[in-house]
Amino acid sequence: MEHTEPDLSHYFEVARSVKHCAVLTGAGVSAESGMPTFRGEGGLWKEFRPEELATPEAFARNPELVWEWYDYRRGILEGIEPNEGHRALAAAEKVFDIFTLITQNVDGLHQSAGSSDVIELHGNIRRDRCNICDACRGEGEGRQCRCGGPYRPDVVWFGESLPQDAIARGFEAAGSSDLFFSIGTSTQVYPAEQLPFVAQDAGAFVVEVNPEPTPLTPLATLSLRGPSGYWMPRLIDPLLDAAQDTALDAAPDTACEDLV
Ligand code: APR
Repeated sequence: MEHTEPDLSHYFEVARSVKHCAVLTGAGVSAESGMPTFRGEGGLWKEFRPEELATPEAFARNPELVWEWYDYRRGILEGIEPNEGHRALAAAEKVFDIFTLITQNVDGLHQSAGSSDVIELHGNIRRDRCNICDACRGEGEGRQCRCGGPYRPDVVWFGESLPQDAIARGFEAAGSSDLFFSIGTSTQVYPAEQLPFVAQDAGAFVVEVNPEPTPLTPLATLSLRGPSGYWMPRLIDPLLDAAQDTALDAAPDTACEDLV
């Protein structure tokens, strides 16, 4: 059966005119870099039990086991680079007047790709903080904080609330966006899964990118099947070119007048 590319003309018409673009990403955006997702094929939760590894109770019960697991994930991260999907989102910052990147990922790959001011809803696996006083763990420090509390990975575990500032900024951005991308997320984990729907209720053009359908699919303005490394450059690069042309046209003609 012949593969037909979806018509993106309406998307480009809208994307060329909007001021505020907001994006929500999930584990799928890092899949092409070699980071396992959670619920997809070969996903971490298929192999490991979150209640034994990613809850405050699990950490209280067996901190060694929890550390072993995060060291295993940090090991995976060591040899990994951002992919085309990450890079297209870093470039998108130059396209829109206001651009907000909200991620559920704890891998820091958006920042490695050059994205700035990334809103991390679930923390970052490359940092540790004290389980008691929240102090950040310094380079070379042991696993016990000066306050006596245990350091732990600076991620949000199941049953814990998200960083208030991050989630407030996420909802604010979704509610004021004109164009909203939901990329590489199964749209199942509260409260992040609410964001595309908040954007839609606010009238945004909602684009979903995922090889599989999700609860958002029937409601998205445009839902594209396939990997983010394939779609994101196709959705952003033409806008980047247009933005650069506009910038060139606007640039003052600095060519010197012939004086003689
Ligand atoms: N490009 C885009 N999407 C992809 C790709 C890809 N290359 N590969 C897989 N996907 C999609 C899968 O089809 C799936 O819908 O990415 C999604 C990943 O879903 P999950 O594994 O559920 O990850 P996520 O939505 O980020 O999970 C949310 O749950 O376990 C917690 O804290 C963890 O942040 C995580 C949260």
